[in-house]
Amino acid sequence: MSNIKVRFENTGIEMRKIVEYQEKVENIDKEIRKNASDSTEFLGWLNLPTSYDKEEFERIKKSASRIRSNSKVFVCIGIGGSYLGARAVIEALNNGFYNSDSNEPQIFYAGNNLSSTYIAEMIEAIGDRDVSINVISKSGTTTEPAIAFRIFREFLENKYGLEEARKRIYVTTDKEKGALKQLSNDEGYETFVVPDNVGGRYSVLTAVGLLPIAVAGINIDELMNGARIAQNKYIEPNLKYNECYQYAVTRNILYDEGKEIEILANYNPKLHYFVEWWKQLFGESEGKEEKGIFPVGVDFTTDLHSMGQYIQQGQRNLMETVINVVNPEVDIEIKPDEDNLDGMNFVAGKTVDYVCKKAMEGTIEAHVNGGVPNIIIDMEKLDAATIGNLIYFFELACAMSGKILGVNPFNQPGVEEYKKNMFRLLGKPGYEI
Ligand code: PA5
Repeated sequence: MSNIKVRFENTGIEMRKIVEYQEKVENIDKEIRKNASDSTEFLGWLNLPTSYDKEEFERIKKSASRIRSNSKVFVCIGIGGSYLGARAVIEALNNGFYNSDSNEPQIFYAGNNLSSTYIAEMIEAIGDRDVSINVISKSGTTTEPAIAFRIFREFLENKYGLEEARKRIYVTTDKEKGALKQLSNDEGYETFVVPDNVGGRYSVLTAVGLLPIAVAGINIDELMNGARIAQNKYIEPNLKYNECYQYAVTRNILYDEGKEIEILANYNPKLHYFVEWWKQLFGESEGKEEKGIFPVGVDFTTDLHSMGQYIQQGQRNLMETVINVVNPEVDIEIKPDEDNLDGMNFVAGKTVDYVCKKAMEGTIEAHVNGGVPNIIIDMEKLDAATIGNLIYFFELACAMSGKILGVNPFNQPGVEEYKKNMFRLLGKPGYEI
């Protein structure tokens, strides 16, 4: 099982108020389900857990096992929606501490910044280890991954020669158009598809996320199973029984009451990049037409010692959503100490997770009393199925929430503005004043 339970008792919003949105939610639900197969509507993610490309899925598994057997390092090159989903899942589920004795390939992420130092240090860290790369770009022309790919392609060609390098380059891009597709055809790279009707930030359950996730040794069947559970569960249009839509409605009610910022809090450092993925999903989907909840993330308890002060007593325009992993993967008992110099013997015999849960309960109480409504998402455990479930939960909630807000949650016209300026400053043909 991969249960997710959402609790609203700390929001001050009663179910009576939530179900006032029933008609609106039902209409949106009907509209998105009716348009799901329309390739121009970017709704391909909606039925993905049941209608993904099975042939490609098997090819992903085969390529992943080849990469795992011939590479000690796997470099994922991509940015935004072509990067964050894979990293979110991999960091949530894998041991984040590097173990040089491990046979697992180490996963590196490139093409998500423009730092020479970062690239140079990565190449140094690869050293003489065997490496494969996966360049992921729907458009094939995004500046950061395009530059990183040039560098890593040359690195591979110098290291292995042209023929072997070709076998170590995996490309995930549009099925027929774009520079990367053209290059892949010319060079014979193994390619995977970013479906036309799935936007970047909704693409983690396509080859975009699945190949790197499988290379990291994570069971992608389980991930899809969890997403499928969510797809079946949240098909319910009755708001009373659909926690995903309740979440979408509640955050809109709170927004209307002046809570313009939503903080997604986790109590497990492994979820840091999951929060980063969530930030992109909601920020890029809702922040337009001069409206939208501003999504931010915190890692607790770490950030209770930094951002905790603001959340408790700063501007009262905050709401908070807490991801609570109910059952920890491992737990460590705190031992008694004879000298008790740190005065911590009062927790002796308890576990680290027990202390964490009390920190969470105490924080929720403090923040709610301080005027920050809290939504709690209990996830049963941190495994592939539950993460798949949570991914689908947030994708559907985001689509519903954006539609309630009255924006198009599937476009991102604003991100082109800085690019135009950058290209003009770089002298790209066609971008002169
Ligand atoms: O969600 C999105 O659409 C964006 O974040 C894109 O994924 C990001 O800009 C990368 O684009 P591309 O895959 O075309 O390189």
